[in-house]
Amino acid sequence: MQKAVTLAPANDATAFISNLAQRRARCMSASLGTTMIYPHQPLTLVRGQGQYVFDETGKRYLDCTAQNLCISLGFAHPVTVAMAGEQMQLMQHCTSLFFNEQPILYAEELLARMPKGPDWVVQLVNSGSEAIDLAYMMARAHTGYFELVSLRNAYHGLQFGASGSTAFSYNRWSSAAMQGFVHAMHPDQYKGAFGAVLEPYLSELRRSIFSSTCGRIAGMIIEPIQGSGGVVPMPPGYMREAFKITREAGGLCISDEVQTGFGRLGSHYWGFEAHDAIPDIVVLGKGMGNGFPIAAVVCRRDIAESFAKVRFFNTYAGNPVASAAARSVLKVIDDEGLQAHALSCGERLLTGLRKLQGRHALIGDVRGAGLMLGIEMVRDRSTREPAVDEGERVMARMRDAGFIMVKGSPTRNTFRLNPPMCITLDDIDALLDAFDRALAAE
Ligand SMILES: Cc1ncc(COP(=O)(O)O)c(C=O)c1O
Repeated sequence: MQKAVTLAPANDATAFISNLAQRRARCMSASLGTTMIYPHQPLTLVRGQGQYVFDETGKRYLDCTAQNLCISLGFAHPVTVAMAGEQMQLMQHCTSLFFNEQPILYAEELLARMPKGPDWVVQLVNSGSEAIDLAYMMARAHTGYFELVSLRNAYHGLQFGASGSTAFSYNRWSSAAMQGFVHAMHPDQYKGAFGAVLEPYLSELRRSIFSSTCGRIAGMIIEPIQGSGGVVPMPPGYMREAFKITREAGGLCISDEVQTGFGRLGSHYWGFEAHDAIPDIVVLGKGMGNGFPIAAVVCRRDIAESFAKVRFFNTYAGNPVASAAARSVLKVIDDEGLQAHALSCGERLLTGLRKLQGRHALIGDVRGAGLMLGIEMVRDRSTREPAVDEGERVMARMRDAGFIMVKGSPTRNTFRLNPPMCITLDDIDALLDAFDRALAAE
């Protein structure tokens, strides 16, 4: 049988990495090089187990990224391995042109975790961006309106529709395919344009709809905590009021739960539930499959019915192996009490980080919920000037110490902590210790 990967000879890791770098540059697309986390010293990952990943030399790291929040339960979780493996043996794919029970079981089990009230249904796809695009198509089909509102500092993915709503110039194209999106001011309570308030952001949203749309919109999309924007939580009341404004303008309310869903926030299963705001459409992805590519739109039945006016098909949607993996996520979150665990681990981490903030002037702000936390690094707490280079050095020290802790925000100065939900309190204490030492070395 062919070997899955090559392992580095123990004495020659540098040559191994440079060989991979050359081969990757030769045979894979250049766009891959635009998002490297450690561009000057790439990290090769060979294996994952629980909350840890291992490089080609066997060195272990605590993965505080959960591979972009995709690993919810942990790497190689035995329940995911068993459920997906069993389905793999039985039948690895069945298109939605036929019946298969796995995606139906998944939809039933997922809907049991949605808030009571709306008559929800599920449509499965393969990635977050695809699900976002589908949500926009549904909103447009249902309302008959075209324009959509998203927030500045938002990230909703990079297909043409999704990237129209993503609000970073470095992710956008000068293309007619991206038209129809308006970006309202995001209510950032740490460094937002109007400060730590609520009403001015809401009136700016009203003005954006008035000035930049025909006054009637297809919908508005919100991340309950903006993830790629640097972990910026929506302040209490914002989602509820913004949804009201959206509905007054004829639009549907979309919650992007690609990062905030499935109990990661600890206090609630879904991010919107912390805001007393019920959306019309919910978008899911990332940790939904514990590493398997699967995503979904959950919406009201009448919205799905409006969308059924056109034929929509997606070859791999509802793939039974990915559906089985996604079922393992729902099961293990319940069986192992991972939502409550995310809450207690998140509190320990947040408290520890706030203590470090008292000792290290470089930490400007610590924020987020559960196991979705952000640490904003600043040179000066009053001007909030981003401490980019300092953060790079801290990140390199953390890597040496065995912690993959990376920055992600448009100003490149916010560490984002989103570990697998099986992280332990001991891991958190070790992480805090290492971070303390990495900061002290500045
Ligand atoms: C909040 C949010 N929505 C949508 C997406 C798009 O997901 P994908 O990368 O799977 O297309 C992302 C990806 O990072 C995201 O963070």
